[in-house]
Amino acid sequence: MSKEYTLITGASSGIGLELAKIAASNKRNLVLVARDKRALEKLKTELTDNTVDVQILSIDLTDSASASSLYNFCKSKNIIISELINNAGIGATGDFLNSNIDTQLAMIDLNVRSLTEITHRFIPEIAQSSNGKIMNIASTAAFAPGPGMNVYYATKHYVLAFSEALSEELSSTKTTVTALCPGPTATNFAKSAHAESLSIFKGNLPTAKDVADYGWKSMQSGKRVAVHGKRNKIMVQILRFLPRNFVAKTVIRVQS
Ligand SMILES: NC(=O)c1ccc[n+]([C@@H]2O[C@H](COP(=O)([O-])OP(=O)(O)OC[C@H]3O[C@@H](n4cnc5c(N)ncnc54)[C@H](OP(=O)(O)O)[C@@H]3O)[C@@H](O)[C@H]2O)c1
Repeated sequence: MSKEYTLITGASSGIGLELAKIAASNKRNLVLVARDKRALEKLKTELTDNTVDVQILSIDLTDSASASSLYNFCKSKNIIISELINNAGIGATGDFLNSNIDTQLAMIDLNVRSLTEITHRFIPEIAQSSNGKIMNIASTAAFAPGPGMNVYYATKHYVLAFSEALSEELSSTKTTVTALCPGPTATNFAKSAHAESLSIFKGNLPTAKDVADYGWKSMQSGKRVAVHGKRNKIMVQILRFLPRNFVAKTVIRVQS
């Protein structure tokens, strides 16, 4: 018999790992995806109990065949996805002019292409569930042009716009779509994006658990756009009224 599962990409660390813990504590069966097999195995051991089944798939989501492999993996195990959390994402700092194009394209493949294809593959079964939910991890970067992290910011604009439009398209169904928009958060993200020296990643940052708790509640309540933290909420409202040139110049200053 098919059972319903929550699928989380990028579950081996940071926000995705904390979301997996929260989902398990809410008795969700899980499909957890990332490249780091050992981290996924450790998490599976930690979260599996009599009430929760945990399946893991170690896969590189920048591979063009990865979404179909993930879909086939679920079908081979009779798994029905009713909740999807597209969390896996990477960033990169530096001017576009001097950037490595392979890094930029890998970011688009993961943050945009993979998120879109995974959503498209699983949306028919999510929409059939009586409690279907999708959450895509965008960022406060979705609200401003991002010189110095140009392509990353642009990918998060896509995630926000895609999620808001999908939410509207599904508004006559029971399925909700949430765009979670964290600001700078204490995870491996800054290190892997070579952004550790930026002032926005200094100081007292929210933890991955803070963001995951807020994201889980927002997803369960069907909130469409969920910006984490009071300061970030105020900032994104102010950004709407400022000239874009001024915002771009400010972003490059705070990011240096
Ligand atoms: N931390 C922040 O400041 C911040 C702010 C706003 C938004 N976000 C967003 O939050 C999301 C989660 O990031 P995080 O902060 O939790 O960072 P993180 O700790 O670095 O987690 C990123 C996750 O994505 C997975 N991943 C990376 N490349 C992958 C690939 N090619 N294939 C499959 N999985 C891959 C990683 O697993 P493996 O390495 O094992 O593959 C890891 O589980 C991202 O979408 C990020 O853009 C983060």
